[in-house]
Amino acid sequence: MRRLDQLLANLGYCSRREVRDWLKAGRVTVHGQIAKDAGQKVADSDVLVDGNPLDHPAGLLLLLHKPIGLVCSHDEREGPNVYSLLPARWRARNPLVTSIGRLDKDTSGLLLLTDQSELVHRLTSPKHKVPKTYRATLDREPPGDLAGLFASGTLLLDGENAPCAPALLRMFAPREAELTLTEGKYHQVRRMFASQGCTVLTLHRARFGELELGDLAPGQWRELPLTTFAESENQVSRNT
Ligand code: URA
Repeated sequence: MRRLDQLLANLGYCSRREVRDWLKAGRVTVHGQIAKDAGQKVADSDVLVDGNPLDHPAGLLLLLHKPIGLVCSHDEREGPNVYSLLPARWRARNPLVTSIGRLDKDTSGLLLLTDQSELVHRLTSPKHKVPKTYRATLDREPPGDLAGLFASGTLLLDGENAPCAPALLRMFAPREAELTLTEGKYHQVRRMFASQGCTVLTLHRARFGELELGDLAPGQWRELPLTTFAESENQVSRNT
């Protein structure tokens, strides 16, 4: 049970102060009765706003096809962000909807967004080696046995204390690579290729764990059940 004003504010309907106006206007019912007391304790399922059930009261988990040109930071100074693609009410939620890990501004592809901070911590923790697959176009053909080097777990990038964990590289054309990582160091894919003299020209994340984009167009998202990672948690733990 939560206070009605807190519930509506946290779900992004309006500010706590504005809730009184919404109640006066008769927009909110609890158990079918027009609500009068902003401080009353309510269960999510007993509340209707403008006759509709509450908008995802248990939380949000979204799979977004991130387009190029948007950042994952909430800091407006860093430029237009992926959250601008979401409805205003979701952007106003508390806890904030945030990305699970980040993709660079110039990277497209699969990005998860959620307001479940526990999920963010769990899936970005180095303990949980969720495989993430990237497709990269390179400016040149990579040297020698790059797959062997990336798989070896010995590649130490500038400024890092620990080498990159073993990663799986497949070349499906001379300058077209697919790289699967189980960690997420800063700009890792670009830096791994750069360490061997290759510049990544385009980068796209195709998979996150078992999840794929399917036919989602850039800028579109689909909702995932909040239980999506409840089982894969066991699979991931078995691999650690
Ligand atoms: N590695 C990168 O270099 N950039 C990304 O956005 C993701 C992984």
